[in-house]
Amino acid sequence: MTVCEYRPGLEGIPATQSSISYVDGQQGVLEYRGIGIEQLAEKSTFLETAYLLIWGGLPTPQELEGFEYEIRYHRRLKYRIRDMMKCFPESGHPMDALQACAAALGLFYSKRALDDPAYIQDAVVRLLAKIPTMVAAFQLMRKGNDPVQPRDDLSYAANFLYMLNEREPDPLAARIFDICLTLHAEHTINASTFSAMVTASTLTDPYAVVASAVGTLAGPLHGGANEEVIFMLQQIGSVEKVRPFVEDCVARKSRIMGFGHRVYKVKDPRATILQKLAEQLFEKFGQDEYYEIALELEQAVSEKLGHKGVFPNVDFYSGLVYRKLGIPVDLFTPVFAIARAAGWLAHWKEQLGENRIFRPTQIYTGPRNQSYVTLSQRPQIWDKNGQSPQPLTP
Ligand code: CMC
Repeated sequence: MTVCEYRPGLEGIPATQSSISYVDGQQGVLEYRGIGIEQLAEKSTFLETAYLLIWGGLPTPQELEGFEYEIRYHRRLKYRIRDMMKCFPESGHPMDALQACAAALGLFYSKRALDDPAYIQDAVVRLLAKIPTMVAAFQLMRKGNDPVQPRDDLSYAANFLYMLNEREPDPLAARIFDICLTLHAEHTINASTFSAMVTASTLTDPYAVVASAVGTLAGPLHGGANEEVIFMLQQIGSVEKVRPFVEDCVARKSRIMGFGHRVYKVKDPRATILQKLAEQLFEKFGQDEYYEIALELEQAVSEKLGHKGVFPNVDFYSGLVYRKLGIPVDLFTPVFAIARAAGWLAHWKEQLGENRIFRPTQIYTGPRNQSYVTLSQRPQIWDKNGQSPQPLTP
């Protein structure tokens, strides 16, 4: 075996072989199972795309109808899950609520019959069907309302917006939301997908796989960036303040949210599509106060950091779309999770096909052959700075 050098963040190191999606970061290309994201955004639906990702090919009309039927049938949540959610603090982040709910589903269904295609199919359907219901239910419950029951006559995207806003969405809004889900459904070995694969490789149940991926997606360097973008636009406040803001970030070497990507060194193709979707929404429902700031920011960052390959990523324009759809800022990342569950499940299924547990190595940098010092002989001072540990607040 060749010994590789240590690369922080495993940059450029293949963690698996996969036929699910392909990215060319220099050309700005993203394909799911070989089909360009632009075509899927224009012609497909999220559920059809999820089928493509998970089962490896576009469904026949009959297969798609069956898949959509199964998803509709499993949208409702068990009352015990709803009861559990009632105990969550309303100030808690919806990603934490979603992670807990995804894990809790495993209490009901975790047979771990991973060699049974019916178990795999059921898990895929249950997770895709119930995650949107969980997100919408938490939103209503934290406001003190009863969750709205899913509606079988509405599409996947329309039903989510209906459960969230308690009214049937405009057809354009529902279609645009569906495209957003398609755009976020999969993206090779990103952090949350890697987390899903590592968890999957232990042969645990798919609910644990998705729960671990949700926890990973929540961080601000990954899916959590979409809500940070809105806070940043809010903080900038006006077009005139954009360039001083960028100068300041560059001087302080701080990250500008919604920009930069490990793989893309040009504008993320999903950002290009999302920007067009945002403009369609603004045309029908009115401009967003932050859009002019966002445009100026894109221009200023490209001028200042374009030479480093720092351009808008998927999270830059998605928040502006979600705001127009009436989605609260702290639900942006859960909405990302609704979509990315398709990619996680595709990788879970692929991982099971040729599984070997992930067990990388490390380069040890600590001391060796130290003697154990008994408690009574240890100094009172805790660490090098002479600080004692602070007691935890209850
Ligand atoms: N703002 C300012 N400078 C940046 C940014 C940014 N957002 N992103 C990268 N750079 C600079 C970075 O400082 C570095 O410069 P230098 O070589 O002089 O030190 C150079 O570009 C390369 O960056 P890196 O740190 O090697 O990039 P990475 O691959 O480790 O990190 C990233 C990728 C996405 C974590 C990072 O670009 C970032 O923190 N972006 C902001 C958060 C964000 O928008 N995250 C969403 C990512 S896309 C969707 C998703 O995964 O959910």
